[in-house]
Amino acid sequence: MEEKDISQAVISRLPRYFRYLGELRDEGVERISSQELSELMKVTASQIRQDFNNFGGFGQQGYGYNVEFLYKEIGKILGLDKTHNLIVIGAGNLGQALGNYMNFEKRGFILRGMFDKNPDLHGKAVRGIPVQPMENIESFVRENNIDIAVLTIPKTSAVDVAEVLVNNGIKAIWNFAHVDLNVPEGIQVENVHLSDSLMKLSYNLERYNKENTK
Ligand code: NAI
Repeated sequence: MEEKDISQAVISRLPRYFRYLGELRDEGVERISSQELSELMKVTASQIRQDFNNFGGFGQQGYGYNVEFLYKEIGKILGLDKTHNLIVIGAGNLGQALGNYMNFEKRGFILRGMFDKNPDLHGKAVRGIPVQPMENIESFVRENNIDIAVLTIPKTSAVDVAEVLVNNGIKAIWNFAHVDLNVPEGIQVENVHLSDSLMKLSYNLERYNKENTK
């Protein structure tokens, strides 16, 4: 089966499998059954088997899955067997927090550059990477094989900045600005809105409270 046939719902569950399998691998676990993984992850074993069947089932034989193999295969599907060069645009609170977060590098996402329009920030180092003026961005993107741009700027300028990035060869944008970007087909955009997650939490809290005060 070609990957294009796989639903986004399945794809969105893969990072969680990858995370759990990575932890199991680090703990030295060699094999795990779908039942054990189901108990650990609190999803049904049939869901796990169905999800994995999209990729040929990952050869479960005898007692369960080989953890190392499964971890690597899911990593490959997620494109984590390669490194990705990242730049952050907007070196404010959020941009610096993301830039300072080392764990992305463990997954192969390498921070190569930080950019901001505020001259007070130019030269300030975030994990050794100096913040550069926006004037440098076009040549930097073209010359440094940058795959992913992280947008942590206000929504008012995000659309224009995204256009510049795309015109200079950026193929993927991790967009934290609260605006929908209008990018050509083939450019991948992942919008992240932490507030959506918070609103979901609020909804579940409301529902629980209502059900338990009847
Ligand atoms: P901040 O004000 O600390 O940082 C924004 C930075 O962007 C500033 O350093 C500013 O100089 C820079 N900037 C503004 N326009 C620019 C441009 N055209 N080119 C280059 N740099 C530019 O704000 P913070 O807290 O870091 O948030 C950044 C943005 O992310 C805000 O618009 C905020 O609404 C959004 N945000 C989104 C979240 C999400 O979950 N999607 C969560 C938190 C913030």
